[in-house]
Amino acid sequence: MNTPQTIYDLVGEERIRLLTTFFYQEVAKNESLKKLYPDDLQPAEERLFLFLLQVFGGPEIYSEQRGHPRLRMRHAKWKIDSEMRDHWMNTMLTAMDRLDLDINISGAMMSYFVKAANHMINHE
Ligand code: HEM
Repeated sequence: MNTPQTIYDLVGEERIRLLTTFFYQEVAKNESLKKLYPDDLQPAEERLFLFLLQVFGGPEIYSEQRGHPRLRMRHAKWKIDSEMRDHWMNTMLTAMDRLDLDINISGAMMSYFVKAANHMINHE
């Protein structure tokens, strides 16, 4: 039997790169999110890109460079409530929209992002 294809296999590295570029273009336009991020968004974009390659089944360069993701812990220094989650999630959905993905792929990605974004909430 064939090994099931990962999101990484189906979307490809180039489109994951584009997704993170589009995501940070939208972050730059969102006042609430922008306040949390460093002025230079380029290094942040690179971290998210490497993380998504890994989480979607691609090369594990993120962990080689940054260690165990521990994402909730890495986000503990920002106040993330459901409103901030919605800012993040809507930003990601806008970025995904621009990729024009097959509905099955965007569905799988979206369900991962919703779960991960909920997990990052650390404030009522
Ligand atoms: C729910 C709302 C979220 C907010 C407000 C938020 C905000 C932030 C901020 C301000 C940073 C610092 C940027 C940097 O310098 O790297 C960051 C880093 C990061 N975020 Fe989020 N984030 C959220 C959700 C998520 C989700 C759902 C994911 C995964 C799908 C994610 C993945 C990452 C990664 C991989 C980093 C870099 C971590 C590192 O290696 O230091 N974030 N986030």
